[in-house]
Amino acid sequence: MKNIYLIGFMGSGKSSVGKQLAERLQKPFIDLDQFIEEKNEKSIPDIFAEGGEASFREYEAEALNSVKNKGAVIATGGGIIETTGNQVVMESSGKIIYLHTDFDSIIERLQDDPNRPLWNQDHKKRHALFEKRLPTYKEWADVTVNTTDRTVDEIVVQVVDVIK
Ligand code: S3P
Repeated sequence: MKNIYLIGFMGSGKSSVGKQLAERLQKPFIDLDQFIEEKNEKSIPDIFAEGGEASFREYEAEALNSVKNKGAVIATGGGIIETTGNQVVMESSGKIIYLHTDFDSIIERLQDDPNRPLWNQDHKKRHALFEKRLPTYKEWADVTVNTTDRTVDEIVVQVVDVIK
């Protein structure tokens, strides 16, 4: 059984949608960030503080490889697309759903969340990161679902429909 990968920027609802989607589809749910933290017994901010983003990307690629055959719904981290090799792994082991959220809504949802090191920077840099990643999310996705101003329930219903 193949995985369902949810990709999208920080704050796009990957974890909340993923949990509910997994229940609906009766598949296991894996939050890749949580998986990394539990496996390595370190928080994400600590991983960034110790080895920077490059080190986190290594943990992330390794985690992705270890869950690729689980037949699960997987909420990935917003930067999974920063590592090109991850595309091949996801494409060959599942369906990729991009949850798109407008930048203004992301600002409202995340505010000044201290637990996301790449959000924890000035507004211009946050926005530049969002703009830079947009085309890659779209390019990697089998399907794009807009989550702006929509409830988790509504999004789950749409995802179930598009993956039929
Ligand atoms: C990151 C997003 C985070 C987490 C890490 C890096 C990113 O996950 O993987 O802080 O590069 O956008 P969420 O998208 O769940 O916030």
